[in-house]
Amino acid sequence: MADNFLLNRRDVLKLGLGTLTGMGAVAFAKNVSLQQQIQSDDHLTRNFNTSGKGTLKERAAAKGLIYGAAIRYPDLSSDSLLAAAVAKECGMLVPEWELKWSAGKQALRPNKDNFDFRAADWMANFANSHNLLFRGHTLVWHDSLPPWFKYEVNRQNAELFLTKHINKVVGHYAGRIHSWDVVNEAIALWDKRSDNFRKTPWLEYLGTDYIELAFRLAAIADPKALLVYNDYDLDYDTSKHEAKRNAVLNLLQRLKSKGTPVHALGIQAHLSGDSKSFNAQKFRAFLGQVAGLGLKIMITEMDVKDDKLPKDPQKRDQAIASAYEDYLSAALDEKAVNTVITWGLSDKYTWLSEFKPRPDRSPVRPLPLDDKMQQKLAWRAIARAFDHAPQR
Ligand code: XIL
Repeated sequence: MADNFLLNRRDVLKLGLGTLTGMGAVAFAKNVSLQQQIQSDDHLTRNFNTSGKGTLKERAAAKGLIYGAAIRYPDLSSDSLLAAAVAKECGMLVPEWELKWSAGKQALRPNKDNFDFRAADWMANFANSHNLLFRGHTLVWHDSLPPWFKYEVNRQNAELFLTKHINKVVGHYAGRIHSWDVVNEAIALWDKRSDNFRKTPWLEYLGTDYIELAFRLAAIADPKALLVYNDYDLDYDTSKHEAKRNAVLNLLQRLKSKGTPVHALGIQAHLSGDSKSFNAQKFRAFLGQVAGLGLKIMITEMDVKDDKLPKDPQKRDQAIASAYEDYLSAALDEKAVNTVITWGLSDKYTWLSEFKPRPDRSPVRPLPLDDKMQQKLAWRAIARAFDHAPQR
């Protein structure tokens, strides 16, 4: 037990800063040595030593957690090294494109009357054959709507389109899916509505009840699935993120007060490797408020962009790994957090190559594995966070 008695950074700080709680001399010595490392520590010198040989899936599962990744069908079906890495490291698979209305080359909704499940079914079968949980992203979003949507959907028929989509798609995977991002990114403060709702076609055609309707339809179509509200910009100690956290909390409180079957908050966690604004205590307090609503919490799209970090890969990897460890150390301290999903697994396949390319055009390095599927410091940081997390 003593060999595995690893203190995480926050425990060390609590022990070091508070009065000793009767810890033994050994733990005190370990505390002091770790605290000395932390006090002299910055993200350029922190080591990310891990113990044991467990994969991320195994280290997460050992604490009652799930680790997974979002992957695209074209990459998973063509790159055997990626497929092997997903099968080895992940306990959950999320189609990055294939369960949106229309993303990538094989749109789920090619036209107003039809559904093309081929790509998503191939991924569901991959998950099933490798004992991975399968997760759906996303049923209702303002983005990735097919070209025909704006010509075919209107105020009179929007509820019919929403109902048919959710019944068909959720029904197709009923009983085979861990959770659904039922509604994605419905809050946008810059749209300056008093309810902070994003101005989307769904809001325009159905009014503010579209969110509750979507959750109720999904719950009927698959009573077993965990139903998730998913959003971003909930992470940092900035006025923008604080306002977003409050708006999302208000939405969740309103939904819960109406008895809406929302079971979890999905926090996308698209982090910035150069950010100095992460405040673990404030983030942890927000998670406690969400958990206080009786909701689970999933970290759903984690990655760390490095577009503003130095070119040197080692320096970037140190900063990125520090961001992963600091964020997950705080997040996993909240036992309502049950899942960590990275938005991709390997730097070879990340949306950030297009969405946040580096000015110097060097390949971005946001994910746990490099472009050759080798473990990076980020992998070790995530592994350490799982190892230090309290048991669920
Ligand atoms: C992104 C995909 O990764 C990109 O390939 C696509 O071009 C745009 O969408 N938040 C979400 C995800 O909920 O669905 C987005 O995925 C990233 C931001």
